[in-house]
Amino acid sequence: MAVQICIIAGDGIGGEVLDSAAQVLGQLSPELTLVYAEAGWQTFQELGEALPDLTLRLAQQSDAVLFGASGSPSFPVPGYRSPIVALRKALDVYANIRPTRSLPNTVPAVDLVVVRENTEDVYVGREHIQDAGDTVITERVITRRASTRIARAAADLARQRAATRPTGRARVTVVHKANVIREGDGLFRRTALEVLTAYPELDVDEMLADVAAMRIAQSPERFDVLVTTNLFGDILSDIACIHGGGLGLASSASIGDTYALFEPVHGSAPDIAGKGIANPIAALDCVAMLYDWLDGRGYPQATQHAHKLRVALATVLREGPHTPDLGGTATTQAVTARVLALVTK
Ligand code: NAI
Ligand code: MG
Repeated sequence: MAVQICIIAGDGIGGEVLDSAAQVLGQLSPELTLVYAEAGWQTFQELGEALPDLTLRLAQQSDAVLFGASGSPSFPVPGYRSPIVALRKALDVYANIRPTRSLPNTVPAVDLVVVRENTEDVYVGREHIQDAGDTVITERVITRRASTRIARAAADLARQRAATRPTGRARVTVVHKANVIREGDGLFRRTALEVLTAYPELDVDEMLADVAAMRIAQSPERFDVLVTTNLFGDILSDIACIHGGGLGLASSASIGDTYALFEPVHGSAPDIAGKGIANPIAALDCVAMLYDWLDGRGYPQATQHAHKLRVALATVLREGPHTPDLGGTATTQAVTARVLALVTK
C-alpha cells in the first residue's frame, strides 16, 4: 500500500517541529513517501504567493498533509491570505478535531475533543467595506450541508469513544449562539441536534458559546465531545488546550472524505523561532493522529505505531527531557532523540 505524506513546514518553528515529526515518521515507517512543499509568509515574500500552485498540487497528490505553522502578519498585506485556511478549503478537510487530554496524574482529569467546522462561518473571507472604511460588513456563512457533516463527524468520533468505555456511552455538546445569531446558529443547532438523534448511545446536550467558554475554563472534566461552528471552535479549543499543558502539546487533525491534514494548534512562535527549543510534542502527537487516520484506511501496523508513539510521548512528559515551555532546558532535538529511542525499543 503506497502512501505519500506531504510535509509543509511553513514559517518559524513550523520547520523545527516538523523536522522532528519527519524523523519519527521515517523511523517508524521507512516505507512511507515523504514529499516536501513550501507555503507561508516567507514563501509569499519570495514568490508572491503564500500557497503556490505546486504546493497545492503536491498536497492533492498526497494522501495526507503534515503542516507546521504559518506566520501571518497582523497588518493587512495586499494579496496575502493565510495559506492554511486556503489549504483546508482546497482539500475540503471539513472536520477539525482538537483533543485535549490532561497530563498524567493531574486533577481534574480532562479528556475532551473540540470538533470544529472547518470550511465556513466568517472564514469564507468575504468582508465588505462601506462608508469610506467606517463600516465593515463581514459575512458569516452557515449551511445545512456543512452542519450535517460536522455533526456526523462529531457523532462518529463520540461513538468510537463510547465503544472504548465500560459504560458504552459518550456525550456530545452542541455549542452555538442561537439566542443572538438566530438564523445562522439556529440552522446549525437544529441540524446538529437532528443528526444526533440517530445515535442512541450518545448523551446529547447543548450550550451557548460564552457559557461553554466559562465552563471549559472552570469545569473541563464535564465535557466529552463538543461540536461547534468554525470561529467558536477556534477560540474554545485554545481555551481547552490550557488543561492539556498548553500550546506546545496541542495537536489537531482536519479530516475530509478524501484528504486529511494534521497540524499543531500553535503558530510560528517568532519569539523562540531559530533557537531550537520549540516543543515538538504537539507535532509528534499529530503523527499519532495521522496513524489513527491511516489505520482507518487499512494501513498495516498503523494502530501499533500510534500506540507506541503515544506511550513514548507520555514517557517523555513524565520523565523528560522537557523543553523550556514545560519548565526544562532541553532542545527540540534532545526531546526528539528520546522519542526515537523509545519507539525503537
Ligand atoms: P504562537 O502559537 O505562535 O505562540 C504563542 C506562544 O506560545 C509564544 O510565546 C510561543 O513561544 C509559545 N509556543 C507556541 N508553540 C510552542 C511550542 N511548540 N513550543 C514552545 N512554545 C511554543 O502564537 P502567536 O505568537 O500569537 O502567533 C505567531 C504567528 O503564528 C502569528 O503570525 C500568527 O498569525 C500565527 N499563527 C498561525 C497558526 C497556524 O498556522 N495554524 C495558528 C496560530 C497563530
Ligand atoms: Mg486558533
